[in-house]
Amino acid sequence: MVAWQDEPRPAPKPAREAHVGRFEVKARDGRARVGALSTAHGVVTTPTLLPVINPNLRTIEPREMWDRYGIEMLITNSYIIWKHERLRTHALEHGVHDLLNYPGAIMTDSGTFQAYVYGDVEVGVEEIVSFQRDIGVDVATMLDVFTRPDMTREEVEEAVAETVRRADASLASAGSTMLNGPIQGGLHPDLRRQSAEGMGAHGFSVHPIGGIVPVMEQQRYTDLAKIMLASLPALPPQRPVHMFGCGHPMLFPMLIALGADLFDSAAYALFARDDRMLTPNGTVHLGELREWPLLMPCVAHVTPEAVRKLDKDARMEMLSRYNLEVTLAELAACRQAVHDGRIWERAERRSHAHPALREAFLWLTTSPARGSAPIPATEHLLMTDRTAASDTSPARGQWEGAWDWVVASQTTPGQGALRWAGEDTFVRPFVVASRRRLHRHWRPAATQGPVLILHGAPGPWRDRVGAQVVRARASNPSLEVLVLSPIGLVPWSFEDLQPFAHVEGPEWLWKRPLDHAWVRRELTRLHLHDRPFVGVNLRSDSVGEAFDAALADAGLNPRAAVDDAALPEVGMDLRRVQAVDKSMLELHLERDMATSFVGQATFVMSSTGRIRNVKDSEGRHILSPRLGDGGLSLTDEGAKVLHGLGLPSGHAPATLTVVEDAVPFVGAGRNVMHGFILEASERLRPGGTCLVLAPDGALIAHGVAQCTPAEATAMEKGIAVRVRGGLLPSS
Ligand code: GUN
Repeated sequence: MVAWQDEPRPAPKPAREAHVGRFEVKARDGRARVGALSTAHGVVTTPTLLPVINPNLRTIEPREMWDRYGIEMLITNSYIIWKHERLRTHALEHGVHDLLNYPGAIMTDSGTFQAYVYGDVEVGVEEIVSFQRDIGVDVATMLDVFTRPDMTREEVEEAVAETVRRADASLASAGSTMLNGPIQGGLHPDLRRQSAEGMGAHGFSVHPIGGIVPVMEQQRYTDLAKIMLASLPALPPQRPVHMFGCGHPMLFPMLIALGADLFDSAAYALFARDDRMLTPNGTVHLGELREWPLLMPCVAHVTPEAVRKLDKDARMEMLSRYNLEVTLAELAACRQAVHDGRIWERAERRSHAHPALREAFLWLTTSPARGSAPIPATEHLLMTDRTAASDTSPARGQWEGAWDWVVASQTTPGQGALRWAGEDTFVRPFVVASRRRLHRHWRPAATQGPVLILHGAPGPWRDRVGAQVVRARASNPSLEVLVLSPIGLVPWSFEDLQPFAHVEGPEWLWKRPLDHAWVRRELTRLHLHDRPFVGVNLRSDSVGEAFDAALADAGLNPRAAVDDAALPEVGMDLRRVQAVDKSMLELHLERDMATSFVGQATFVMSSTGRIRNVKDSEGRHILSPRLGDGGLSLTDEGAKVLHGLGLPSGHAPATLTVVEDAVPFVGAGRNVMHGFILEASERLRPGGTCLVLAPDGALIAHGVAQCTPAEATAMEKGIAVRVRGGLLPSS
């Protein structure tokens, strides 16, 4: 007797009635999200796979899916149930959950796929949705019009328009049952976007991406990536995105990184029928195996050879289990990767599983902004800021917004190094996002001194050459000091800021020669275009002499009289500059404002020489350094001072305004919840500092945003801002 048969898993706890249909983001990594979809048959954790159950042909019993495999939601076809008298009567009398003997959430499809395969279906648009409602499904699907890649543009246009035309009647038939509003559009990005906008404007609960089965069958993964980028940015962010007919684990990391929440597939059973096995690295055939590609529980006690000798039905069952277990394991690993902030890294690694997947990945990371072939490896570094690229092809404009949608949602992992894994590392969206923030928000001081570039060795740069930098600045106050990190040039102030400060990789990453043309482009991005520059190689035998030589090269006097006694004060000044510069990045302050905020700061130092507190000129503790990533956190006092500056919205930290009812709770330090938000400023970004305001504009709290501006007002459940300090007096 197997354990799951001894102890059936308890039935799911229904979500609270008022919450049914809501989707909450529990954790995010860029566009990837670990979510919770509330249904009357339990709260479903996403990303997840809904195994397809053919009610006439069950390879693995739905009850076992629930009891043994912990599957929270499955999908079956309402058209098949509707067509078969026995199934239909049972479902109408006892409900679909009883028909399948499955206690979890059930989604049904509508017959669209049958229409695609067989040419037509006999059921009406409203009839099939009412039927799904009547048999008690948790999520029904409207009868959309499938768009094949070989259709003419006119045919696709008509299919998209007809699907949108059917939306109102379908929603009316669904009543309170959640309804899928599929996105069609074939391979046409503009029609995909049009479909997403058209369907998104109606009250659907979930948006499946439809018409992708032939795209995946033909392994057109770049087209699949384009379909994602064309559709998802145009969809309401509070609704989960489902990938119709996608169940190959190889595709999960990339699609999840681009925002997919639900998958469904019969692949686990269909592949097993032909002795094919799914693995995260591609498909393998049982006939070729001496060993299991991954040792899953169902085959732990048998060899491939023994399974080959089983009769067809037993073999198919065994391989279906194998495929299901592999699929579930990969999804679990993807969810963990989202929690760890490493989903893109997983997609990056997984992209090597298949040439077409690699092509799709390279298209994503190097081409949307260029519309051209992948750039040569040595150019990757230069491409980390795509918007600065000189390419002006029309394709660039087409994809730039979609790529921005990915980049703008990125957070910088709070802890740990950026782990180098080849050239792909430098185009990870969060690296692109960090560079973009630097280039958008940081501006050099007005002085016109030359630029000194420290290169050739990794950090910690302050420990390595902090003393020389202080001395060089003491004799030449207008000097701009930059360090060369493997992900680009950064001002000295950010020498301890992630991801620039700590890259884990081979030594030669830091030894790349300073290419003059590239340095010029980097200086332009940093608004230092007209400055002369000189390099200091930190691998020189005598770094002091290298500094002197570089300063002399720059026309400065390396031996200018410096009073040693003045050096500590110059060091402190540099710390102040650092606080100003970091405030520009973290709080989006213009240099003038940042200077009035922290330009006269004093510091409380730890015994090891680290800054513990940053105080303003009036002695108020306004900022605290974050050890994990080198950033600065606003304190309660700092939030008040900042808000008191009365900054115009374009030059201030992000703000979010809550509804009146939420004011006492948030003001007392509770998190800001979705559903209680009036508006959010465009500056809001996940992981960014945020001031929380009452409807009258009064400051009531500050914290760290968990969402983008569009999500702030659209999402209905979950935490929008993790409040670090409530600022209303306690009563
Ligand atoms: N199953 C696979 N693709 C599709 C699709 O485009 N629409 C529907 N309704 N079901 C599908």
